[in-house]
Amino acid sequence: MIICRTISDLKEQLHTLRSGGKSVGFVPTMGYLHEGHASLLRKARERDDVVVLSIFVNPMQFGPGEDLDRYPRNEERDLALAESCGCDLVFLPVQEEMYPSRPLTSVKISGLTERLCGASRPGHFDGVGLVVGKLFNLVSPTRAYFGMKDAQQVAVIKTMTADLNFDVEIVTGEIVREPDGLALSSRNVYLSPAQREQAVVLSRSLQEAKEMCVKPGMTSGGLLKAVKEAINGAQDTVIDYVELLLYPSLEPVPEDQPLNELRETFIVALAVKFGTTRLIDNALFDHTGGESACSEQ
Ligand code: PAJ
Repeated sequence: MIICRTISDLKEQLHTLRSGGKSVGFVPTMGYLHEGHASLLRKARERDDVVVLSIFVNPMQFGPGEDLDRYPRNEERDLALAESCGCDLVFLPVQEEMYPSRPLTSVKISGLTERLCGASRPGHFDGVGLVVGKLFNLVSPTRAYFGMKDAQQVAVIKTMTADLNFDVEIVTGEIVREPDGLALSSRNVYLSPAQREQAVVLSRSLQEAKEMCVKPGMTSGGLLKAVKEAINGAQDTVIDYVELLLYPSLEPVPEDQPLNELRETFIVALAVKFGTTRLIDNALFDHTGGESACSEQ
């Protein structure tokens, strides 16, 4: 597995690796890899000739007071996991390599970023758009792989890719979870043992939402109320948001909308703080398929 720390080395190595018209699958990450990242690498390994991983904790997507300085890192373990997934090349730039000076160009994806994490983390998706745009230009991937754990990020990246004509196919991977349902996240290490136990309420409340949404007469407002009550019933939780929106447009759904009459895919997305640790999770509900189809994708 090749490790590149500079852009010039990355370009040189990629030039050789992709020769003969090979396809390149790209998985951008911020490191501290877990099975969620690994599932994307394996998916890329199945579909593409060359698999490229980037590990870069992008300062531009962190707000003041967020966890940029304490974001977990473990390069040695990350490289071992990447290698075990059949990764060919890892791009590991330092901050100065990606941002030799403060960038004056911004990538603003409007509309989609005004809700959910975009509303509670102002500027976050501008930073994501900027770094992913730069990485797409540096790697020129055939396909790029993103997890549905960050469903809003997927909608934002797909829109940016279409709007700016990036010649890359965006492939999504399902949310990978712990056996008890907690979605894997690099930030789970921040949780105390007691918080870790409480955190299962996120996936459990989404699971309950799945069962509730098929009940005749269940409205968007009713479902959200039940999810919020479940989360508030756990100890030391502070809800950042719990929302039900159409997906991928992220348009609002009226509170009195009976869900079994909704013929569009919608998402229930939540962000909850356990002490200082903010976790997100979501479930997609596909109501386009028939009377009571109500499944996570
Ligand atoms: P990061 O949080 O490291 O996540 C990298 C990729 O792994 C993202 O596409 C994310 O959705 C996916 N992922 C994380 N946890 C997952 C899980 N439990 N199941 C499935 N996929 C999961 O997302 C970022 O980094 C950054 O914003 C980035 C796109 C790299 C730009 O800096």
